Amino acid sequence: MVLDWIGPADRVQALPPYVFARLDELKARAREQGLDLIDLGMGNPDGATPEPVIEAAAKALRNPANHGYPPFEGTGSFRRTIATWYERRYGVKLDPEGEALPLLGSKEGLTHLALAYLNPGDLVLVPNPAYPAHFRGPLIAGARVHSIMLKPENDWAIDLNSIPEDVAREAKVMYFNYPNNPTGATAPREFFEEVVAFARHYSILLVHDLCYAELAFDGYQPTSLLEIDGAKDIGVEFHTLSKTYNMAGWRVGFVVGNRHVIQGLRTLKTNLDYGIFAALQSAAETALQLPEIYLEKVQKRYSSRRDFLISGLEKLGWTVRKPLATMYLWVPCPPGMGSTDFALTVLQNTGVVVTPGNAFGEGGEGFVRISLIAELERLQTALDRLEEAGIRFDAKLA
Ligand SMILES: Cc1ncc(COP(=O)(O)O)c(C=O)c1O
Repeated sequence: MVLDWIGPADRVQALPPYVFARLDELKARAREQGLDLIDLGMGNPDGATPEPVIEAAAKALRNPANHGYPPFEGTGSFRRTIATWYERRYGVKLDPEGEALPLLGSKEGLTHLALAYLNPGDLVLVPNPAYPAHFRGPLIAGARVHSIMLKPENDWAIDLNSIPEDVAREAKVMYFNYPNNPTGATAPREFFEEVVAFARHYSILLVHDLCYAELAFDGYQPTSLLEIDGAKDIGVEFHTLSKTYNMAGWRVGFVVGNRHVIQGLRTLKTNLDYGIFAALQSAAETALQLPEIYLEKVQKRYSSRRDFLISGLEKLGWTVRKPLATMYLWVPCPPGMGSTDFALTVLQNTGVVVTPGNAFGEGGEGFVRISLIAELERLQTALDRLEEAGIRFDAKLA
């Protein structure tokens, strides 16, 4: 039977095309043409999950107690480990019974939060550019998105004064994310204080995405929203094990903060999913308890790739800001070239995959994001191929 007369729901049809899916098609085509791809497009860490985590998972897999449906709110043991980790890391106490909720990855939670808290027509504040779930989640919920445009001249900082008074009054939720994907920008603690005061003043639910909590370099320590006095009254913060612990495929994240908001999200999720396989929650506990030396190694891996690629790009004419955190370089397109054109030119001429900045909203136009997800040798090959193809940044044309 042909069902082509049934179209997807309006909420799906209204979504702007997902650039990563389009990029996947282009990559598949390039592979068919025999190109050896160097994929620096996704935020998908290369390499393996740490051995102690794999061992903990293998052990937990053999325990039949883990084989049934897990508890909706996650295992008590994982929630307690989250609370202990949080206190150790940020000096903030959390009640594991109501202020921490495991998630099937933070992307799921960020989107479900929008479904749990936004009615059709509600107004939500989202920086632009942003990680797509921050605006796509609200769009799926039928909300209206007010973009807070981020600008290179402000080093991609959110300017709260740029939000019109009537918009601030009407807004119900605000998403934000520092250290930032895609720009690699970081925000000082004073910004967190300002945004908490702003959200309290206008009664806005603050949603902070601290995805890159541990991928910070040169002594920089990212701030957690909940470190700020009064933040727990109006905010929640999302975390993930995907990046720090190379566990992107395991789908383990969590949200912490305001208990009423977490309860609302939990109620929605109770109707949608059963949570994370208990054996993986057990392994995730091991990840959060890994010794500091593991984190130092990860940080070193990314910061050396960052420095290597920045100096290689400099030889090709680029000046790239050195990010203090994340796993990305945010690189300007050559003068006169849009981000899609540039990403396509790079892919077709070199087999190197980079993400066009407009995948993160129109505020990302004019830039591409390069993920630091390959060893130095491979990054050198990518640089060599750019040079051979004559792809450079000519500042004189800017
Ligand atoms: C800012 C941000 N939040 C969330 C995610 C998704 O992480 P997870 O694997 O936990 O869904 C990503 C992944 O790239 C991200 O960059």
